[in-house]
Amino acid sequence: MILVFGSLNMDLVMTVPSLPKPGETVLCPAYQLKPGGKGNNQAIAAARAGAAVAMTGCIGPDAFGSTLVENLARDGVDTSGIQVAETATGCAMICVDADGENFISVASGANLSASADRIPDERLGAGITVLMQMEVPAEQNWALIRRAHALGARTVLNVAPAADVPPDILKLIDILVVNELEAAEIAGRLELSASSATGLARDLARTCGVTCVVTLGGAGALMAESGGALWTAAPLKISPVDTTGAGDAFCGILTAALDGGASPEEALHRASVGASIACLGLGAQESLPTAEAIDARLAEVSAPLRL
Ligand code: RIB
Ligand code: NA
Repeated sequence: MILVFGSLNMDLVMTVPSLPKPGETVLCPAYQLKPGGKGNNQAIAAARAGAAVAMTGCIGPDAFGSTLVENLARDGVDTSGIQVAETATGCAMICVDADGENFISVASGANLSASADRIPDERLGAGITVLMQMEVPAEQNWALIRRAHALGARTVLNVAPAADVPPDILKLIDILVVNELEAAEIAGRLELSASSATGLARDLARTCGVTCVVTLGGAGALMAESGGALWTAAPLKISPVDTTGAGDAFCGILTAALDGGASPEEALHRASVGASIACLGLGAQESLPTAEAIDARLAEVSAPLRL
């Protein structure tokens, strides 16, 4: 079973001809409201990929919040651990351009009240994988990682948006998922000198004793295991419509595969293919693939290569 602790946002999405520069106004015909938030997206990605998923986080007492909970329930996610605060549900403003590139700003709102304390010990034992991101208060994540580690759960931390992770916390994590920028930021704090993505993945895995996965956008992903094994995975050849949530798709699918007993390299293969599929539709969730949809395209790229 997967327990996701993280953010829930309503995404306000505009498809614009080009992303506005500072001071510029760009026009587009319409906007759409779409469920989002990194925690929410990862929970749905994992559920579609076949895992049993429970979501813990915090919404506001408003229509956005209830819509997000109903949306999770439609994908079979257990929402009983979602709290309601007095502040508004988190909201993201997203612009997507013709190449599928985006920029995003997030009003955290109720996500800042997400509390991990209320997660019962039974939800953090052996056989459970806890999946976290950085859109909730960092100290809540750190406390949850300490508890989950002590109680025997596996922990996966997606350090997105980029954040400073204390070295003692890094050592307790089982799987770290970062993009190149996030990897460089963490490595910088640890005074690791690697500059290539491969070097960063390897140094972080070795120094922290974690499995370190570095996502490379259109170039796929790398995975370094603490024992030294290094894998590289290719994405599908696609023309992206919207890359919003591709990282979330990757994390959810990777975690679902591991939770289902796949080897790390099998999980990497499924996550790379699934994250590519997720770029084929507008919004963070609409194009999240089912296990069958991933299976159907798995053979289009070769299995991860051991370097
Ligand atoms: O990772 C994509 C997500 O980031 C969006 O759904 C948006 O809500 C922001 O949190
Ligand atoms: Na998408």
